[in-house]
Amino acid sequence: QAPDSSKAKRVLLLKPRGFCAGVVRAIDIVRIALETFGAPIYVRREIVHNRFVVNELAEKGAIFVEDIDQVPEGARVIYSAHGVSPAVRQHSKDRSLKVIDATCPLVTKVHVEAVKFAKQGYSLVLIGHRDHDEIEGTLGEAPDVTQVVSSVEEVQTLEVPDPERVAYLTQTTLSLDESRDIIHALKMKFPKIAGPHSQDICYATENRQVAVKNVAHNADLVLVVGSNNSSNSNRLVEVSRNLGTKGYLIDNSEAIDPEWLKGVSTVAVTAGASAPEILVEGVVSYLNAKGFGEVDEVEVMPENVRFGLPPEIVQAIQSAP
Ligand code: F3S
Repeated sequence: QAPDSSKAKRVLLLKPRGFCAGVVRAIDIVRIALETFGAPIYVRREIVHNRFVVNELAEKGAIFVEDIDQVPEGARVIYSAHGVSPAVRQHSKDRSLKVIDATCPLVTKVHVEAVKFAKQGYSLVLIGHRDHDEIEGTLGEAPDVTQVVSSVEEVQTLEVPDPERVAYLTQTTLSLDESRDIIHALKMKFPKIAGPHSQDICYATENRQVAVKNVAHNADLVLVVGSNNSSNSNRLVEVSRNLGTKGYLIDNSEAIDPEWLKGVSTVAVTAGASAPEILVEGVVSYLNAKGFGEVDEVEVMPENVRFGLPPEIVQAIQSAP
């Protein structure tokens, strides 16, 4: 059979890609907790939105639950990287749970802003996806004064008691372009609207989107490694498609449809902030086997962010025998 392209087939491996500092920290917290305290350790919701990571930790003894009700009284529970509402914290207290908080510090930053604005008497507009764990947590900081919007259209129907006293915040893993449009619509509607000191969309979300933007025009196809409930991974696919380059979200190499590769000579590969590098390696190996022999890593910008561990874990390490 004739090759479908005379050009050399190559892979552009985007950098930065994959794990962000918040995900590394959250996974470390579960691992260290298992090693120090022993199984079982309960984790509320998926620690990060990736099936592979969750399954691996479950095999080591982590028990993932939907709700605090499912954790036995007095047991140890870890909150996921996406954060929790004050109601969940209270519920844990009521059940005498030993809590370890793996909320990403950049999610906590948004919670702190929500509390600050609510205390100052603002109505809050939270830009994000209603069904996402992070929005559930942030919304819970000031549920009576917060409304969630996820599109420019929804901004038009917003009603607030005092249009002079409105503030907005965003989910950390949104599309930069889409949130810019929504913020613009909010500013048109409420010219005095207040916002966060620095944008809530986190560095990792931004860097991965910028990398796709830089490279998508040089590729025939963009493959994003990530699970389908991962917000930032889905946004990477959208960025690529918005630029006119076909893009697909794949959990791993097995999800690649060989049809996608027909007539394709350059595949860009990236990974969402919760997707482990081992799955990226599997995708590159798959592509190699399909004739994409050349692999060029394209570093769009450096990324060296690290977060410290929470005090509960630091103390546990210090007092371990
Ligand atoms: Fe935190 Fe951003 Fe990662 S909010 S968990 S650094 S995607």
